[in-house]
Amino acid sequence: MEQNRRNFLKASGLIAGGAILSPLAGYGYNSAVGDTIKVALIGCGGRGTGAAAQALSTTQNVQIVAMADAFKDRLDDAYKNLTAKKYKDAAGKPVDIKLKVDVPDDRKFVGFDAFKKAIALKDVDVVILATPPGFRPSHFEEAVKNNKHIFMEKPVATDAPGIRKVLELAEEAKKKKLNVVVGLQRHYQANYREAIKRIHDGALGDIVGGQVYWVGSSPWMKERQPNQTEMEYQMRNWYYFNWLCGDHISEQHVHNIDVANWVKNGYPVSIQGTGGRQVRTGKAYGEIYDHHTLDLVYADGTVISSQCRQFEGTWNRVDEAFVGTKGRIDSFDDKKTILKDYKGGVIYHHDNSNYRNPYQVEHDELFAAIAKGEYKFADAENGAKSTMTSIMGRMATYSGKQIKWEEALNSDINLFPDKLAWDASPKIVPGPDGLYPVAIPGKTQVI
Ligand SMILES: NC(=O)c1ccc[n+]([C@@H]2O[C@H](COP(=O)([O-])OP(=O)(O)OC[C@H]3O[C@@H](n4cnc5c(N)ncnc54)[C@H](O)[C@@H]3O)[C@@H](O)[C@H]2O)c1
Repeated sequence: MEQNRRNFLKASGLIAGGAILSPLAGYGYNSAVGDTIKVALIGCGGRGTGAAAQALSTTQNVQIVAMADAFKDRLDDAYKNLTAKKYKDAAGKPVDIKLKVDVPDDRKFVGFDAFKKAIALKDVDVVILATPPGFRPSHFEEAVKNNKHIFMEKPVATDAPGIRKVLELAEEAKKKKLNVVVGLQRHYQANYREAIKRIHDGALGDIVGGQVYWVGSSPWMKERQPNQTEMEYQMRNWYYFNWLCGDHISEQHVHNIDVANWVKNGYPVSIQGTGGRQVRTGKAYGEIYDHHTLDLVYADGTVISSQCRQFEGTWNRVDEAFVGTKGRIDSFDDKKTILKDYKGGVIYHHDNSNYRNPYQVEHDELFAAIAKGEYKFADAENGAKSTMTSIMGRMATYSGKQIKWEEALNSDINLFPDKLAWDASPKIVPGPDGLYPVAIPGKTQVI
């Protein structure tokens, strides 16, 4: 079996014993093993830049050595942002930026195949995959093939063929002992961890119902620009096209649906629901719905209701609540995570005084494991199954049918374009009126 570069270095003893061979030795750097963990950032947008900065803010010696994006302007902005930051070492001393972000022009890659060039670099130990989710399966495949440790954002695909690919690769990553963290950061947030551990231990009895929500406002939208090809337009305005985004029920609400799966320790056997486009009806909003509501039905008959909508000026709630046979939890708000019994007694009240940002924790834990040569994280399977749950929800609202887990997972509907090129056509294009076709329950086929 081929090994990841770091595992090879560690196994062969080349870096055993600390800083002797460290390229950073002599710079006053703190590190558990004195080696540099080299990272390639794939997808240099808001989250990619944030994740890269968090990787660089761990106590390991981490360096960004390559960047890849479909668009040069996005990559350049991210490079500017990352190099504008004033990084400090663990002792609080400012660190020379070159030791943190060492990305000369020949390691900046642009275009649809940019990811391959960055991932192929031999020195790269870890890849951050933060493009729109439609690309995740192929980028994950490349990373696993090249034996890299991986941080990848949720969702991990936008259709069932993509999910099946990620599930297959999750197994391969396990065999190769590649650490994979998925950005479902509630798994790295102390109040969720502590409360759900107790729920699994029976503190609330059997969980027999619940509600999960992402109801709030609408995210960014990019207007079509003159001279853009249809492919470029969809890539720039990716949130509103399913092959790229998966609809907000997946892109955003996957977080809360994933909490329902986590609490229930399983995945729904069937889902039915309803949804539509009520507020965002214009051309710029592509094909996605603006609201969905679901019944998630689990194997023991428990029904969890899920709601997501993106309407300006309405009530906001991003949270989860569950009821059990012995008690309930009404919120996972950091300060109000309380397990209660039905007489008003407090079973557990999470102490939030040591709150740590879960976006930072996921990187702290991943890089600490990599630095020690440990294999600790295999998030891809749950990431894929929770993403599948959210896609199954989309299938239910788009079709108006009850959708079963197996038929959803085995669906052959592949949303990805046949060819990726700026002059190639995505599968969904606007009609003569400029509007995109939108799913109609009762008519649209989703399986
Ligand atoms: N965990 C969280 O809370 C959280 C928060 C925000 C975003 N996200 C996820 O992070 C991902 C990125 O979201 P974002 O908000 O950063 O979007 P963004 O548009 O800011 O960034 C995406 C970047 O990927 C680039 N890109 C697109 N296709 C590419 C390709 N084929 N190869 C290389 N680069 C490509 C884009 O040009 C852009 O720079 C999404 O999956 C999103 O759901 C997660």
